[in-house]
Amino acid sequence: MNKKVAELLNAQVNKEFYSAYLYLGISKYFTQQNLPGFASWYKVQAEEEQEHAMKIYEYLLDQDEDVTLASIAEVKADLKSPLEAVKEADKHEHYITGEIVKIMDAAAEDKDYRTQLFLNWFITEQEEEERNSKDMVIKVEMLGNDKKNLYLLDKEVGSRK
Ligand SMILES: [Fe+2]
Ligand SMILES: [Fe+2]
Repeated sequence: MNKKVAELLNAQVNKEFYSAYLYLGISKYFTQQNLPGFASWYKVQAEEEQEHAMKIYEYLLDQDEDVTLASIAEVKADLKSPLEAVKEADKHEHYITGEIVKIMDAAAEDKDYRTQLFLNWFITEQEEEERNSKDMVIKVEMLGNDKKNLYLLDKEVGSRK
């Protein structure tokens, strides 16, 4: 594997773990706001992000590449409203999509078809992630200002397994 592609994949392992960390922070915020449904949704999301990280980790090792387990950045803990929390998640998913595209570009430039094939899964996944995070922003924008509606929305959101 090309050195640049390997470095980008390694950096992405870290970014996916950071995503898990970020979602754990959002989950914590919702727990503290007495919104267990949202808390559970973002906890599931955090678990999914760890799976993403591990997918890339396994891929690198399968290709006989090393995996650098660098430090994971701290998550700033100053969320001020449910809307800010869900918007932060939405913004982050768009950022991650951009990072996946950068790795795809580097793999394409190197004619690394195997990595491109591997990354296709992430391209599809990011479409779903963006759709989900956007849905969440729309719902909280519509209902989040009213405590009773937020309570009901929390029940709905909490049904995710
Ligand atoms: Fe991810
Ligand atoms: Fe994600």
